[in-house]
Amino acid sequence: MRKPIIAGNWKLNKTNPEAVELITQIRRDLTDVSKVDVVVCPVFLALADAHDVLLETNIGLGAQNLYWEDSGAFTGEVSAPMLKAAGAQYVIIGHSERRQYFGETDQTVNKKIKAALKYDLTPIVCVGEVLAERESGKAFEVIKTQCQGGFAGITAAEMGRLVIAYEPVWAIGTGKTATPAQAQEVHQFIRKWLADTYGQDLAQTVRIQYGGSVKPENAKELMGQADIDGFLVGGASLKADSFAAIIKNSLSAA
Ligand code: PGA
Repeated sequence: MRKPIIAGNWKLNKTNPEAVELITQIRRDLTDVSKVDVVVCPVFLALADAHDVLLETNIGLGAQNLYWEDSGAFTGEVSAPMLKAAGAQYVIIGHSERRQYFGETDQTVNKKIKAALKYDLTPIVCVGEVLAERESGKAFEVIKTQCQGGFAGITAAEMGRLVIAYEPVWAIGTGKTATPAQAQEVHQFIRKWLADTYGQDLAQTVRIQYGGSVKPENAKELMGQADIDGFLVGGASLKADSFAAIIKNSLSAA
């Protein structure tokens, strides 16, 4: 059985005091949740403060990005050992906004995954097609290319430590959620790719999140799909009540 994992991707939101306030509320709402791994991913600057508020809770902490070198002349970047030292356990890699606005490619995603694994951070690797690709029937092909490129050289043992997030780009921040059937179809495709590449046993252990306009109202039905193992939540993770409701509604389906 795969344990569901629900992560809040806060994107470029929340100052340090605001982050501490939100985590304090989330903590209060989710004290008794243990059947789902819950993770919050604030901006880099708020990680250390967030870590302090999360001590002695079962809520995990993630960053939203990293650079693949440990240190050096790379102005403005943050590395895996730095994230680790700040208390992060997870790191989102290759989010579509990083690909779209910051030029990330499957090759940079691949380097970032390797850097994260080296420091024992759990990568949450995002894949997903844009609307034109879906409409022209290329969604599966796009996902396959992203998996082949992003996971190049990743061993089965390493793959077992990863989380994959399927986020159709047309559903992110748009209010348009993929239907449970649309999402399940792609999740199943990713699991089949994992089985073909790493074997059936490994494929059955890898958690695949869905992301894109997840809300309390659609969480249960999405979570009820066989290959959906949790969510990467953007907008609805910025309020404690909606984030907690997503988790509680998911639990009723899991
Ligand atoms: P959304 O974002 O929930 O606001 O659509 C999801 C994401 O980008 O991870």
